[in-house]
Amino acid sequence: MKGIILHGGHGTRLRPLTHTGPKQLLPIANKAMSQYALEDLKKAGATEIGIIIGDVYPEKVKEYYGNGEKFGVTITYIYQDKPKGISHAIRLCKDFIGNEKFIVYLGDNVLRKNLIDYTKKFEASDSDAMILLCEVGEPRRFGIAELDKDNPGKIKKIMEKPKDPPSNLAVIGIYFLTPKIFDIIDNLKPSWRGELEITDALDMLMNQGNKIEYDTVTGWWKDTGTPEDIIHANKLVLDSIGTENQFLIDDDSEIKGNIVIGKGTEISRDSFVTGPAIIGKNCKIGPAVRLGPYVSVGDNCILKNCNLEESIIMEDCKINAKIDLSSSIVAHSSEIEDNDVPKKQQFLLGERSCLKI
Ligand code: TTP
Repeated sequence: MKGIILHGGHGTRLRPLTHTGPKQLLPIANKAMSQYALEDLKKAGATEIGIIIGDVYPEKVKEYYGNGEKFGVTITYIYQDKPKGISHAIRLCKDFIGNEKFIVYLGDNVLRKNLIDYTKKFEASDSDAMILLCEVGEPRRFGIAELDKDNPGKIKKIMEKPKDPPSNLAVIGIYFLTPKIFDIIDNLKPSWRGELEITDALDMLMNQGNKIEYDTVTGWWKDTGTPEDIIHANKLVLDSIGTENQFLIDDDSEIKGNIVIGKGTEISRDSFVTGPAIIGKNCKIGPAVRLGPYVSVGDNCILKNCNLEESIIMEDCKINAKIDLSSSIVAHSSEIEDNDVPKKQQFLLGERSCLKI
């Protein structure tokens, strides 16, 4: 089966982070979000992958994944001029897919369990599509499936962000499809928000008498549309990391819990790292840093005198300030420093920045 990763969209809810790159390249536990999708597809045997790129720095996606060789897959890039909807993006893949069954993975979705069992199930089935459902707390935010009470195992209706949700079963952003979906999309009308919705395509597929099966997701699934979602996804992924340390640590520093620390990183003088946490290569941590739990620090960061918890600090950042950061995302090459003049603060903040002090 071939795989498709959706790497377009505007990521408006993640501005300013998406002013300089697509959201799917934002790091979760020091790995681009969409790399989880790619590795998951690869594990499931889908090594021929089409990546939909949009109009937010598509060249950065090509630079990151190249022809896929580094990741053990082959990649074809498919360009979507504007984010006209998930179904629109899927329709662009018709030639790439040909006549086979295929898997579509939204590049901003992260799933705990791998796809192997679901893929085997779909490969062996005669269904025209298979979707995965996950119970959620806020069903109004998601595409929702209503199960048929009179026919166990059957779906009655699939709808996008319903005002009055009939269930709390979200349709997650991984779809097992057959080429039948292309003709359906050709007959689809844009929704009220002007997009060709995947939920409408699936509902139409079903209403035309085709068979759609579902499975329920065990473990967690995360759709990372907002900064809060990213911080949460970072926590969920860090909860499952092991310990792997290739670093230098002074005697008066302390680390505890599951921590992955990259080569060349030094943790020095009166610093404490509490896992789960991940710190990249060639970082200098200390003096007087309290780091963790649930912190990801990218490569080449210099951190001094700060307390960090439940946060993401991307590559090449410098923090030298007596500050307590929690639930924060600091994009790469940012600097935070104490001001020489007490009680005065100086900021250089990009458009749509968010500062809570
Ligand atoms: P969304 O999160 O619905 O849209 P978005 O990424 O534009 O974000 P926002 O609402 O904050 O502006 O998209 C879900 C996934 O599908 C995401 O990985 C982007 C991708 N996508 C495309 O590739 N093409 C599209 O036309 C759309 C709408 C989304």
